[in-house]
Amino acid sequence: MIKVETDPKAGLQASLSGDILIVIDVLRFTSSIVTGLAAGAKQFITVTTLKKARNIHKKNKNYLLAGERKGLKPKDFHLGNSPIEYKKSNLKEKIIVISTTNGTKTIEYCKKSKLLLIASFLNAHAISTYIVDHIPKEDNISIILASKNHTIFLEDFICAGLLVSNIINLTLKQDLNDDAILAKLAWNSAKDDLEKTIVEGHHASYLESIGFKEDVKFCVNRDIYDLIPFVQGNKICKKNLG
Ligand code: MLT
Repeated sequence: MIKVETDPKAGLQASLSGDILIVIDVLRFTSSIVTGLAAGAKQFITVTTLKKARNIHKKNKNYLLAGERKGLKPKDFHLGNSPIEYKKSNLKEKIIVISTTNGTKTIEYCKKSKLLLIASFLNAHAISTYIVDHIPKEDNISIILASKNHTIFLEDFICAGLLVSNIINLTLKQDLNDDAILAKLAWNSAKDDLEKTIVEGHHASYLESIGFKEDVKFCVNRDIYDLIPFVQGNKICKKNLG
């Protein structure tokens, strides 16, 4: 079965049930992770608070501190949560400690899963083919959206629909929960003008209002990275396919 879960807390139950988990936070946590790893970063370490991030950095001065609150880089951090910034930075072999508002909290709920992957529009095809090629057909797949206070983020729901649609096309799996069916419908209706649809969402508008229009534009690019970020404990590393 393929399920889309709009409450990050569902990640805990899905993990305990033995599902394969995929986390999506298109704007911008999962897009930043994919871009950072593609830019050469060795790994990300995810933490839920800025304090925890600073404590890790105190003991490991060569690590970089990254993240955001209200979309903005904390003053003493090296990087924000911007894929465009990550693309332009020298991240080769860097270990980056990251804390974001919703994304890193969602990872926390999902950590107990046997396999946890990180998806965005930037690597949707890679994630879908990885699932099809490496995951036994009988395994359940739960796509967990990094929502907040029961508010669904439009871009995450549409990206979930793209993954559902890809996996169905490649496997002919037909067993979906209602949110997966809805997400697929949303994807089908948005796919011909993705950017136009996504900029209408509340988080895209907010990011534009604080100066991150270019990030929003970049995050709607499809399949530019053939890369599978996966979570192991607190760390996110990459499998390269291409
Ligand atoms: C988050 O994790 O809440 C987001 O990625 C926020 C952002 O756009 O920076």
